[in-house]
Amino acid sequence: MPTSPYAIEVDHLTVSYHARAALLDVSVRIERDQLVGVIGPNGAGKSTLIKAMLGFLKPDVGSVTIEGQDVQKVKGKVAYVPQRGSVDWDFPITVREVALMGRYQRIPWYASPSAADREAAKEALAIVRMTEFADRQIGELSGGQQQRVFLARALAQGSDILLLDEPFAGVDAATERAILEVLERAKKTGKTLVVVHHDLVTAAEYFDKLILIKQRMYAYGPPQAVLQEDLLSKVYEGRLRIFGKVFKEETT
Ligand SMILES: Nc1ncnc2c1ncn2[C@@H]1O[C@H](COP(=O)(O)OP(=O)(O)O)[C@@H](O)[C@H]1O
Ligand SMILES: [Mg+2]
Repeated sequence: MPTSPYAIEVDHLTVSYHARAALLDVSVRIERDQLVGVIGPNGAGKSTLIKAMLGFLKPDVGSVTIEGQDVQKVKGKVAYVPQRGSVDWDFPITVREVALMGRYQRIPWYASPSAADREAAKEALAIVRMTEFADRQIGELSGGQQQRVFLARALAQGSDILLLDEPFAGVDAATERAILEVLERAKKTGKTLVVVHHDLVTAAEYFDKLILIKQRMYAYGPPQAVLQEDLLSKVYEGRLRIFGKVFKEETT
């Protein structure tokens, strides 16, 4: 049984690239069964925070704990959907194979995927409604379909914790809805999800809690507590337009 009440604990985390801190003294404790959004302007360290939660990056200072254990000891326990731009979409692999990749760490090096592994991949593709595309090459899919296939890979892994880096970027409104429904369903089955999200307008609607960062931690809490004008204007430094009670980052 898990000993920690938290799914993820980030404790005084500082992470640098070439001696420049991308994250500085960031601490946050994420409870289980939550759908958590990560917001902040471009270059704020959102992707870096996700990678640190996966144990991909070595912190200068601080630690990341997953369900009570040091992240380095439980690497692979956390499922990940990378930012779309970081994937080689020309890599020759089918939709079915991508979903099956979610099972690889459970398969010993000397063995082939079992019937149960194939079943888990199949189920995950059904959840994201990509079954009919199973034999397609991933390069032949639309952006939204590719995103759903990577979500299937993460679901097939069977992890209790899913980290997603901008899953809604570059997808149409219908796909955004479909992905959100899958995330909400995953939450109801006891998963904890941390999702980098670019759009402040929908952030309040989609997430139970929000993390607001820009190198440092600015806020963590329910959307109405985090989406405060004073906080946002500090973090976005005038790059925000305010429509009534709604905030939108200027992208031009
Ligand atoms: N691999 C890397 N090498 C050097 N600098 C990086 C690297 N990845 C990110 N950075 C820098 O770290 C900061 C945070 O980046 P990132 O976490 O990607 O921000 P976000 O996802 O919020 O846009 C930025 O200044 C970025 O340029
Ligand atoms: Mg990013």
